[in-house]
Order: sequence, then C-alpha cells, then structure tokens
Amino acid sequence: MDVFRPVPIDVILVDEKSVVDLYIKHEDRLVPFLGKGGVFTRDHLVELNRWGLSRIFIRGSEALAFEDYISSHSGRILTDPTVPSRVKAATFYISSINALRKAFDNPDSERIEEIKQTLKPMLKSIMKNEVLLGDLFSITEHDFNTYTHSVNVGIYATTLAMHFYREDSSVGSTELERLSYGYFLHDIGKSRVPLQILRKKGSLSQDDWATMKKHPEWGYTILMETGTLTDEAAYISMQHHERPDGSGYPFGMKDIHPCARICTMADIFDALTSARPYKPPMRPFDALEIIKKEAFTEFDHNLLNTFIRMLGPHQETTH
Ligand SMILES: [Fe+2]
Ligand SMILES: [Fe+2]
Repeated sequence: MDVFRPVPIDVILVDEKSVVDLYIKHEDRLVPFLGKGGVFTRDHLVELNRWGLSRIFIRGSEALAFEDYISSHSGRILTDPTVPSRVKAATFYISSINALRKAFDNPDSERIEEIKQTLKPMLKSIMKNEVLLGDLFSITEHDFNTYTHSVNVGIYATTLAMHFYREDSSVGSTELERLSYGYFLHDIGKSRVPLQILRKKGSLSQDDWATMKKHPEWGYTILMETGTLTDEAAYISMQHHERPDGSGYPFGMKDIHPCARICTMADIFDALTSARPYKPPMRPFDALEIIKKEAFTEFDHNLLNTFIRMLGPHQETTH
C-alpha cells in the first residue's frame, strides 16, 4: 500500500504540468485533485486557498520525483525577489531535504558540492532578511527522520549563529555560510550506520549503540576527506555530542569548539520537539527548559538566551 506524504501547497509551480498525482484531504479521506501531467493553474491555487488548505498530498513512491522537480527549479525561485518568503521557505525545505538524501546515499565531494549550491541562495536570502524566520520555522516537519532532522538542525543552528554573532565583526556572512554547511551535514556520519540500526523502532542494543556513537567521527572523516568544506564544518560534526562537563561522546572532551555548541543546542531542540515512534513531540517551551539544564558554561547561557529570543516570537507558528 502506498503511503501518502503531505507537501506545502506553496511549492507547487503555477501554470506548470504536475509531475506527480496530487491529492487533497477531504473528511479524513484522500481524494484526487489533479492527475500527473495536468497543469496546476492559478484557479487551482485560489480554490485550495478558499478551502483553507495549506498542504496537498503526493504518493510516497513519487516523493523523489517530486523533490527532484522542485530542486530543479529552486535556484530560480530562491533568487527571484518577487517570490514571497513563504514560498521560498517551502521550496528551500524540500530541495535541501532532496540534496541531503543524496548526500547520505553517497557522501562524496560531488554531493557535498551539490548541498552547497542548494543552500547558498537561501542562506543569502536569510542573511538579507528576504526570508522571514517565522516562515522558515513553520515549514519544519516534526516527524523525525535523518533528513528532516538534518535540515531542521541546519535551519536552527544557522539562524542561531547568525543572531549570536551579529555584533561580532570577525564572523561575517562568508564565515556563517561555511558554518551553515557544517550544520546541515552534522549527522552525515550516520550514512555509515547500517539502516537497520537507524530505523530501529525499539531501543538499541549495546552493540547498536556503540555503532551509533561512531557517527561524529565518521562525519569528521567524511567531511575532511571530501575536502570541499572548512575545518569548522568537520569540527561541528565531530563535537556535536560532546558536553563541556566531559559526559559526551565520542571523546568526552571538555574543550568544545563554540560552533559545535551551537549545533548541539539546535540538535537537542529538534530531537525533543520532533515525534518519534516511542514519544510524542515536546512543546518548544518544555524543550528549552531541558536545554537550560544542559547549559554548563557562560557561553551556553548566552547562546540559550539568544535562542529563546530568536524563537520567542515564532513559537506560535512553529507548532
Ligand atoms: Fe548526531
Ligand atoms: Fe543530529
């Protein structure tokens, strides 16, 4: 049986042929809206808006074709100043998930380069405030999987670094852009963790857990070997599970790169606010309370305050 996936209506290109079958939810049932090859018109969009729908459904088996299609248009959409922030955020989310999925399948320098090309126009728009943070945060999906998690952490950590270093002239837009690639790829080491461990529904055995804990080192190796990113990106991957009290892994180190601490905060926040097979999503406020307990140093406290200020006005739209 095919599983259906919701996608934001904002990403559907108007006056273009749909590459997949589109469905809408009506009284808890999915009904066909537009068949593959049919042209999605402005009238369709008006109709969907009138019905108050913000999501349309596609077949899971066609998700990749759909993502590829959105990705092939994302460069144009993201650089067009007339495209609304909401549409850019939705297009960015799908195309970066698509690029991440490919990088996890085969983490070579070509795929990493593709990630950079996918992220670059959006990072520029975010830094120029052309994309509203509320639109970015509200587009994040909270059904946990490695790709949505990577993109969510990428979004939270990049915007957090941007706010945190706002007054710091040594961290300009070029430095932020480089860090950002590291944030989106922080878990790339999981590409070497066997799928049966990654997708396990129940709790992990000791052996599984030992394998899982290798992902920061594997991430470091992958990012250093592909050589298209800066060393900071590799440190982010290597140190995002370390804790300043030495209780983290893989090395139990206490002296952690500040950029990795930013990643850790975003990582914990996304893990807590996402649904897992064994737990419902936590409210952002409760997640921040837990993160507060993890804030060991003055740097962590300053970072947390920035994070709270940044998320504050958008929390209503986030969930
Ligand atoms: Fe991780
Ligand atoms: Fe992570």
